[in-house]
Amino acid sequence: MRLTDCHNFQDFRRLARQRLPGPIFNYIDGAADDEVTYRRNTESFEACDLVPSVLAGVEDIDLSVTVMGQKLALPIYCSPTALQRLFHHDGERAVAAAASKFGTMFGVSSLGTTSMAELRKQYDTPQCYQFYFHKDRGLNKAMMQTAKESGIDVMMLTVDSITGGNRERDLRTGFSIPFRLTLGGMAQFAMKPMWGINYVTHEKFSLPQLDAHIDMGGDTLSIGRYFTEMLDPSMTWDDVAEMVRDWDGQFCLKGIMSVEDAKRAVEIGCTGIILSNHGGRQLDGSRAPFDQLKEIVDAVGDQIDVIMDSGIQRGTHVLKALSLGAKAVGGGRFYLYPLAAAGQPGVERALTLMKAELERGMRLMGARSVDELNPGNLRFR
Ligand SMILES: Cc1cc2nc3c(=O)[nH]c(=O)nc-3n(C[C@H](O)[C@H](O)[C@H](O)COP(=O)(O)O)c2cc1C
Repeated sequence: MRLTDCHNFQDFRRLARQRLPGPIFNYIDGAADDEVTYRRNTESFEACDLVPSVLAGVEDIDLSVTVMGQKLALPIYCSPTALQRLFHHDGERAVAAAASKFGTMFGVSSLGTTSMAELRKQYDTPQCYQFYFHKDRGLNKAMMQTAKESGIDVMMLTVDSITGGNRERDLRTGFSIPFRLTLGGMAQFAMKPMWGINYVTHEKFSLPQLDAHIDMGGDTLSIGRYFTEMLDPSMTWDDVAEMVRDWDGQFCLKGIMSVEDAKRAVEIGCTGIILSNHGGRQLDGSRAPFDQLKEIVDAVGDQIDVIMDSGIQRGTHVLKALSLGAKAVGGGRFYLYPLAAAGQPGVERALTLMKAELERGMRLMGARSVDELNPGNLRFR
């Protein structure tokens, strides 16, 4: 199978599976507990049908949106994800380059494997920094300062990861950083020697966002221990309000699901909220963002930019979310499988297909621009 054989999300997933050692594929592909929420995220879009309008003069289609002060040429951006250079040796550089070609935003994770400052210098497209809240308040301030100095456009605080999700596929393979593979996991690495050759012949693995501030002790502080020892489960709304004041710019919370929390985000001065369940990787059994979107838009949609991620695989999923009032959507696996499958050309192909699906979908819906989409375009079954 080659990149040109990939025509949709499932094709990219298949090619990624062929290229990656099993433990790494399953780290991307897996989710928490029984993966019920993971499945529901995409299924939720099937509970709702598009009702097209015709004869609307749809020669020119404008897919651009403005969200959290950023003008994006596409209504979908690349959500921040960890460890991208494990998936392909170009990692974040490939994603940033592709996002920039398509004029959309990309996120750099706190657990990113390329420095946010390097990416900011290299690519002229909106960039957000995904932040975790540490026990050490001084460290939080220093990290935010680094982000400010790097020229980050949007601060994105992840609030659904106060503790790690139970990813049982990773337990079975022994996937962790540093690697502590089970025998079965090791055997799966041995079956993909090309991945190993690329891994050892390219820049050494590192976590620059953390290395700049935390002594990761060579390889001794595992990501698991980073979560349990350094992040602060006692974080409250007051802490975040202070961060929002300190940042003094575009600030969003990633992982808001309840109306109450959405209202509090408005009260403390956030400019965006991302309805997200982390792609089903945290609280299994939690509601899918698309199922919850209307409730949130009705409550706060006129006061804050409401965005959603989790489960998006198709242009029509994006159109449904926009019709319901999302200002933009984020995607994770929709670009991660292509990254793993083929690096930058893979991500570019995914974005090309997504853009074509969006344009086709808009034409067939009779909508010339995103602001013409509205709840009247939808019927729930
Ligand atoms: C492999 C992987 C790593 C991720 N790493 C992070 C991360 O470091 N920080 C974060 O806030 N979200 C992270 N996410 C969640 C994504 O930002 C996003 O919320 C999720 O992927 C959306 O679901 P989708 O994959 O179904 O599109 C990760 C997701 C995946 C699949």
